[in-house]
Amino acid sequence: MVRSSATKSKSPKKYFTKGTTPKPFPKLPFVPFFFNSSFYIFLEFKTHLGLQQYRPITQKQNKGLLLPPPSATSESESAAAACGASTFRPPTPAVLRLHLLITSALNYCYYNLMSYQQHLTLQHHPLVHPLLFHTSNMAYTYSPTTTFFPKHHLRSTTINCTSSSPPPTTVTTTNNRQPVPLLPFSAKYVPFNSITDESYSLDEIIYRSSSGGLLDVQHDMNALKQFDGKYWRTLFDSRVGRATWPYGSGVWSKKEWVLPEIDNDDIISCFEGNSNLFWAERYGKENLSGMNDLWVKHCGISHTGSFKDLGMTVLVSQVNRLRKMNKPLVGVGCASTGDTSAALSAYCAAAGIPSIVFLPANKISMAQLVQPIANGAFVLSMDTDFDGCMKLIREITSELPIYLANSLNSLRLEGQKTAAIEILQQFNWEVPDWVIIPGGNLGNIYAFYKGFKMCEELGLVDRIPRLVCAQAANANPLYLNYKSGWKNFTPVKATTTFASAIQIGDPVSIDRAVYALKNSDGIVEEATEEELMDEMAAADATGMFVCPHTGVALVALRKLRERGVIGRSDRTVVVSTAHGLKFSQAKIDYHSKAIEGMGCKFANPPVEVKAEYSAVMDVLTKYLSKVS
Ligand SMILES: Cc1ncc(COP(=O)(O)O)c(C=O)c1O
Repeated sequence: MVRSSATKSKSPKKYFTKGTTPKPFPKLPFVPFFFNSSFYIFLEFKTHLGLQQYRPITQKQNKGLLLPPPSATSESESAAAACGASTFRPPTPAVLRLHLLITSALNYCYYNLMSYQQHLTLQHHPLVHPLLFHTSNMAYTYSPTTTFFPKHHLRSTTINCTSSSPPPTTVTTTNNRQPVPLLPFSAKYVPFNSITDESYSLDEIIYRSSSGGLLDVQHDMNALKQFDGKYWRTLFDSRVGRATWPYGSGVWSKKEWVLPEIDNDDIISCFEGNSNLFWAERYGKENLSGMNDLWVKHCGISHTGSFKDLGMTVLVSQVNRLRKMNKPLVGVGCASTGDTSAALSAYCAAAGIPSIVFLPANKISMAQLVQPIANGAFVLSMDTDFDGCMKLIREITSELPIYLANSLNSLRLEGQKTAAIEILQQFNWEVPDWVIIPGGNLGNIYAFYKGFKMCEELGLVDRIPRLVCAQAANANPLYLNYKSGWKNFTPVKATTTFASAIQIGDPVSIDRAVYALKNSDGIVEEATEEELMDEMAAADATGMFVCPHTGVALVALRKLRERGVIGRSDRTVVVSTAHGLKFSQAKIDYHSKAIEGMGCKFANPPVEVKAEYSAVMDVLTKYLSKVS
């Protein structure tokens, strides 16, 4: 989905510039009305006139008004709320009509001005006046002050809405703006897992804490807690699949939990996320002795073919904002095992920001290499491994005004964590028992943990799943650390693996991963080259087309199933991190049995046959007798 001016919401100030026409008044539901129709039309017409004159009250004027969470009174009301339907039950149809006009008008102000306290001026017939007062004991508390204009037989009433509860989410609105409470949503950098007062604005260019440790994006949880879990679930659900900028993106549908303070106009999104949660029915039943609640979260079915899009939209959006603030940033750079550079270059190209990528020569797939090239990145291919590229990019970005885009940068994890929230959402907010994630630099495992944990803390769910990190045996520093009982971590020299994107021996986010696993009763598993290639082929044979990293995760699942750690009916999600098409060469090698020392037991090479009827009949008959 591309950004379209029709769906992109306008900033409030554009509505109130002199001489502009406000948006059309939202359509109201039909309500039977017992007054005669001329009065009815007059009332509605004049109220519309009044709308032209409403006066915004600023956030500044609002300060000090603390708001409790909005609450729908029943399940049906929250369902109605999600559809934007009105659920008021006022005493009489006349009052209802007027009340709806007023609340819709206030709500209209609210959604466009993001304010709880509204001033609305209505011009109306004198008869209407008592009705205005009548509404005051309903959803809002109004204090109308009225001026009478004898010449026109009109009164003008300014309604001060001083309600201590936010405007209802239940009134029809024309856009999808989200209430902003008076305790505003915000986030900042803090040192990862440490209790200090140190913190930095997200608008600072900083990657490490003062002690050289990792940073984490910390949200103001008290602000988010002004709304209960039910509210967040309804809100997130209401945004799925919409074209409204930017909330239709799987990441930006959770904007308040990601980068709450960024202006929608600064966001660079390709409508990432909302990826398929695939019920791996046949794979589970046939390969894992009747496992029937197995799911594969296809994060690789995405704009650039990997989960990296989820984080990159956040990072590049923030860089876009920083550049608009005239921060000295000429471009964005990363070291990559392929997928990060693909995502970075695509999002930078969309934003018109230069991107620079450091790639280890001959260690990434051709498909991954061609992505940054095609997207116009400045590509440096280096005779080293990922760890070597990473070391260099860190040195370079400390000297040049290039923003560092590696997962050392905690912004990306804010986007990646939305995949965890999305899984819960796809299960109708039920928590799976296990989530298995392939790990290399180890940012993603923490991102999943963070997403699940936030959902628990904010009351969307009541527990988090157990996490499993799966590593290639050729690049398994976390596995070794786990096996040693989390004793001192030692980096390893990673050797070649078909799961090339996780060929990392010295992971930047080791502390984050250990924290996530310890706090989720987690497990680490490993997979040899033969195991991961066989597993990938086995999964493909049931209709998937997964990458070797997903093969690693599936091996971990098999091992845990065989040991009885994961039960047959445990609801389990395997995170597929990249699209299989990026790794076609590995699959070609496997199916042509061209991998030295590997049995390739599920190879399915094409049968070469003469283009003759009898020859084709011959091979087909043999094949059919085997499969029938
Ligand atoms: C396809 C794929 N899978 C898994 C990973 C591992 O993610 P992380 O480095 O955050 O552990 C990566 C990261 O490069 C990747 O590209």
